[in-house]
Amino acid sequence: MCGIVGAVAERNITTILIEGLKRLEYRGYDSAGLAVYTQQGNLERRRRIGKVSELEAAVGAEPLAGNLGIAHTRWATHGAPTEHNAHPHFSGHELAVVHNGIIENHEELREKLKGLGYVFSSETDTEVIVHLLAHTLKSLPDLADALKAAVKQLHGAYGLAVISAKQPDRLLAARSGSPLVIGLGHGENFLASDQLALRQVTDRFMYLEEGDIAEIRREQVTIWDVAGTQVQRETVQYHEGAEAADKGEYRHFMLKEIHEQPTVVQRTLEGRLGKDHVMVQAFGPQAAELFAKVRNVQIVACGTSYHAGMVARYWLESLAGIPCQVEVASEFRYRKVVVQPDTLFVSISQSGETADTLAALRNAKELGFLGSLAICNVGISSLVRESDLTLLTQAGPEIGVASTKAFTTQLVSLMLLTLSLGQVRGTLAAGVEAELVEELRRLPTRLGEALAMDAIVEKTAELFADKHHTLFLGRGAQFPVAMEGALKLKEISYIHAEAYPAGELKHGPLALVDSDMPVVTVAPNNELLEKLKSNLQEVRARGGELIVFADEQAGMSNGEGTHVIAVPHIIDALAPILYTIPLQLLSYYVAVLKGTDVDQPRNLAKSVTVE
Ligand code: F6R
Repeated sequence: MCGIVGAVAERNITTILIEGLKRLEYRGYDSAGLAVYTQQGNLERRRRIGKVSELEAAVGAEPLAGNLGIAHTRWATHGAPTEHNAHPHFSGHELAVVHNGIIENHEELREKLKGLGYVFSSETDTEVIVHLLAHTLKSLPDLADALKAAVKQLHGAYGLAVISAKQPDRLLAARSGSPLVIGLGHGENFLASDQLALRQVTDRFMYLEEGDIAEIRREQVTIWDVAGTQVQRETVQYHEGAEAADKGEYRHFMLKEIHEQPTVVQRTLEGRLGKDHVMVQAFGPQAAELFAKVRNVQIVACGTSYHAGMVARYWLESLAGIPCQVEVASEFRYRKVVVQPDTLFVSISQSGETADTLAALRNAKELGFLGSLAICNVGISSLVRESDLTLLTQAGPEIGVASTKAFTTQLVSLMLLTLSLGQVRGTLAAGVEAELVEELRRLPTRLGEALAMDAIVEKTAELFADKHHTLFLGRGAQFPVAMEGALKLKEISYIHAEAYPAGELKHGPLALVDSDMPVVTVAPNNELLEKLKSNLQEVRARGGELIVFADEQAGMSNGEGTHVIAVPHIIDALAPILYTIPLQLLSYYVAVLKGTDVDQPRNLAKSVTVE
């Protein structure tokens, strides 16, 4: 994903920009560039395809020094990853812009600006911004005024940084749908799309809010909100605990990562949602063209990522009407597979280096799939490099071996895929996309509410302290959630746990149920609830103890041997994401009670790069 760094200082800022870009490398990108207002009074830029180190070498070979500059790592969406498409983009020799996000009305603006005599040198959507701003400056000569007026014409998502050779004492920024943070120094100030990029220069940050425009000078930062009113944004002192490589106030990385989910889900959605639709371009420049041809989906993954794929099958078929198959990579890769025509191959992986998943992708290339999409958390991974399209889950580094935030961000990404395919293929029922986009925007808050169940789930964990076996039950899209719950419990507490679709109980596993076999169930309030309740009666009749995570509106209450834990109500389509949280917390607290090594459970590795 794209990254932005900017600086205005008394010292030379070139090395600060490059160091900032390096800190954003983990997000994945295919070209990098920077523009500096030089000591000679010119705007100059260097751009390179490939790594930031290539850009650094270019700056080393042809040095650039100045006190004002912007820099960018680009993940191609409009136009191939070439040097002329890399940011910063210029209008003449006066104005430079870097941009994260997607401008949806770029074609219309491009035609208009061409008509006004502006010459385009790239295929990017970003270049319309810089020419539009140059044009606006003709009537509104102050850079901030011009930017405020120009962004009103942009539809889509953006985080922008702008510098002008005519007003070289300031850096301008605008945020709508793509995050930006100002780093506050002493006699110098900075800008970035992620505070990580600026940790080298400051520990004080100001986060821009949606619609904000900021003018950043060495001694002063001025911010206007979406209504154009000058506002103050809170200055946040950076806490060590917020850094990914640090547990901070948490006892284990796993607990920290569980609690990060509202933030990382928010990040996964950023820049990808339009007003009432998903931005298909978020999957890459050729996504819309490719998605229009998709008639089937084949998902391949391992472990937790496989469970995310299983949830996606329910979504793809029920919401988008697209047939979907899901298979574990170690089976898929060695099986003779019959590929349906026009099938999109989707791999899901946190690390992007899982040997079986990678091998499956390589096989898929020989098998005549329509194209390949990687849903992955690591932008520089092999899986991403070798796939036609990518959607990066923005979970940030996951340190705990048991996957948590990677899973929920995968689910969010798969919902974006479902809506995008349905949108392009025209198979979504009317209003579904707009409704789900709205619900997705609320999801981080809802996940925060689910995390508030922490204390009650910790208490519930005591029921498992002396148990050796557990059953997890779910129906519909909650069946894979139950599978994921069982996997988490066995991985970190070493309690044997199995998941079944609730309707399968009486076809065998019911024989296992007795007072030593707790049965964990996820029960959202949907059309399967009454059937699920009957399944639970079957358990109670055999003396089995029930732990039910039930919608607060499901009308279920505690009874003898039945522990009901209320879960905040949520639209059914997003319930798998929400119900995952109490199950993660349950396995965490059971493991803590058992005294296991939660972050590094025995026999397991974080990235399985061998067969
Ligand atoms: C479980 C877990 C594993 C991984 C699996 C695939 O908590 O972490 O099951 O999900 O090894 O790994 P990735 O997603 O990196 O391909």
